[in-house]
Amino acid sequence: MSTFWGPDFDQLRELDPEVAAGLLTELDRQRSKLQLIASENFASPAVMAAQASVLTNKYAEGYPGKRYYGGCVEAIDPIEQLAIDRAKQLFGADHANVQPHSGASANIAAYFATVAPGEKVLAMSLPHGGHLTHGMAINFSGKWFDIVSYGVREDDNTIDMDEVRRLAVEHRPKLIIAGWSAYPRQLDFEGFRSIADEVGAVLMCDAAHFIGLVAAGVHPSPVPYCDIVTFTTHKTLRGPRGAIILTNEDWAKPIDKAVFPGTQGGPLEHVIAAKAVALKEAMDPGFKEYGQRILDDARSLADALVERGYRITSGGTDTHLFLADVTPRGLTGAEAEARCDAAGIVLNKNAIPFDTNPPAVASGIRAGASCVATQGMGPDEMVTIAGLIDRALTGTEDDRAAVRADVTDLVTAFPAYPVASRAGREATAGPVPAMPQD
Ligand SMILES: Cc1ncc(COP(=O)(O)O)c(C=O)c1O
Repeated sequence: MSTFWGPDFDQLRELDPEVAAGLLTELDRQRSKLQLIASENFASPAVMAAQASVLTNKYAEGYPGKRYYGGCVEAIDPIEQLAIDRAKQLFGADHANVQPHSGASANIAAYFATVAPGEKVLAMSLPHGGHLTHGMAINFSGKWFDIVSYGVREDDNTIDMDEVRRLAVEHRPKLIIAGWSAYPRQLDFEGFRSIADEVGAVLMCDAAHFIGLVAAGVHPSPVPYCDIVTFTTHKTLRGPRGAIILTNEDWAKPIDKAVFPGTQGGPLEHVIAAKAVALKEAMDPGFKEYGQRILDDARSLADALVERGYRITSGGTDTHLFLADVTPRGLTGAEAEARCDAAGIVLNKNAIPFDTNPPAVASGIRAGASCVATQGMGPDEMVTIAGLIDRALTGTEDDRAAVRADVTDLVTAFPAYPVASRAGREATAGPVPAMPQD
């Protein structure tokens, strides 16, 4: 009865060749190009095995031990409890809710628990690095709440905590959000805490991007300072697509109620199992090395671009990502993204602080080192990549074709999801945990 039953690619190929072909095309794209999108990573085969499992079949509204469906005690409750316990242990949190389907869902639940429609929220402005859910006008956050935005200083592109305090004192928000999607520096969590205390606000951190660095111990943790910490599990944490919310004791019940039944129905237990696996991977001492490699790589890549004449906003990075102003090369962000893609380098255009171009055009590119660090590339390879980016941006079509060939050499030397057998995977990516179908 215990024979493993899981994804069968041959069956998929027979039943639905179009989708099967799409999966292979995407696998090939991920393997054959340089992946520098700061919000992405390569989840491990173990994470994907948990996600692509029979757990997808199970309804489990409620929480471990308090479900609205039968059939949860054998496996579902223990697995979700494992994910909860690991999240609490890894981040030193009082409470963890592992059910949010995505980062946006986690933030919806956090708003639902803390603010009523029309109430004030202080969060980072989108054009300065905040996320859509931090108050963009056409997002639920901007439509339903009275958003006050803080930004970065024009001279050094770092968050002006005096401005955060001034806005908090003037507007007395019910909720303050620290967190970002495109900001390369560490946040002053202590400063945010004291401002929240001064005005009686709830303090939430949206740690979606940098939580893997926190797990690795190479970035300060928001947990001791914040009432609520939301984060995605698929960026630097290298897990499945999804999110987790950590809280202190006071916010445990309100957040659980806000996730279910407040804003979600049945939890995705297959994804929760994959989150549990990713959290276990993040507890491994090797993850600390991984986090450090991400930081070293991001710095090395940013520095090497500066040497080639690009301006890095805020003058560098303390995280996995940075923003490079491409206007010194006479390009927009959109043009830079397209030229890089033609050369096999995948990154995204991004507004830079005080951008004069509209968001769909933008003046910058955002690049992150999570994927290349997963592939085992180090700071030397980042110097090579900076040269490739520069050639892709400034060269001709022929130059971009030549860069494409160099990218192929690089990703062949540092493969993502190596084609090789299990033995081959071990040779390139270290020991691979036993997989039942192997
Ligand atoms: C800071 C931040 N919060 C929330 C999200 C939303 O996550 P998801 O795309 O899973 O909804 C993102 C996604 O990039 C993010 O950067």
